[in-house]
Amino acid sequence: MNGFTVWFTGLPSSGKSTLAKVLRDEIEKKNRHVEILDGDEVRLRLSKGLGFSKKDRDENIRRISYVAKIITRCGSVALTCAISPYKSIRQEAREEIQDFIEVFVDCELEQCIKRDLKGLYKKALSGEIKNFTGISDPYEKPDNPEITVNTSSETIEQSLKKIVSGLTKLGYL
Ligand SMILES: Nc1ncnc2c1ncn2[C@@H]1O[C@H](COP(=O)(O)OP(=O)(O)O)[C@@H](O)[C@H]1O
Ligand SMILES: [Mg+2]
Repeated sequence: MNGFTVWFTGLPSSGKSTLAKVLRDEIEKKNRHVEILDGDEVRLRLSKGLGFSKKDRDENIRRISYVAKIITRCGSVALTCAISPYKSIRQEAREEIQDFIEVFVDCELEQCIKRDLKGLYKKALSGEIKNFTGISDPYEKPDNPEITVNTSSETIEQSLKKIVSGLTKLGYL
């Protein structure tokens, strides 16, 4: 079986980690091995010490895509959840990994601010933290993602269904 990488990209609190976890459960039912590379965890370990400048963000993504490539090459499934705000580095990851499915986790900024799971939008809006994606740092939407979900209007189950059916159509599941 071919390995592949599902690359989630979207604003903070858009739903990347939530969807990766439910997708993992779904893919594991098919007896596939799945690894999640979550930006929050990666930044505590593999990318410890990196900040949020464009240079550091790109370096973080390069490290994630390197690990995702190895997982993919082993025939397993990598699910990455990192904001990955810049188009150019997502393109680089796509070229490196090849079996790469980009999932745009689209969500209204107002909805993300309402969710604010980690309280970071509040801090960004008050200026307490700088370079926060969506508030004081750019987010470049993908032009041609394989799959788009809209988490401000869909339930988790509906978004998951879209992803699973997209992966099935593409021949990965
Ligand atoms: N369709 C959906 N898909 C994913 N998350 C959703 C959806 N609808 C509502 N949510 C909620 O949005 C929040 C997303 O948080 P999280 O997955 O941690 O975001 P991120 O990892 O992108 O920062 C969760 O509280 C989740 O329950
Ligand atoms: Mg997350």
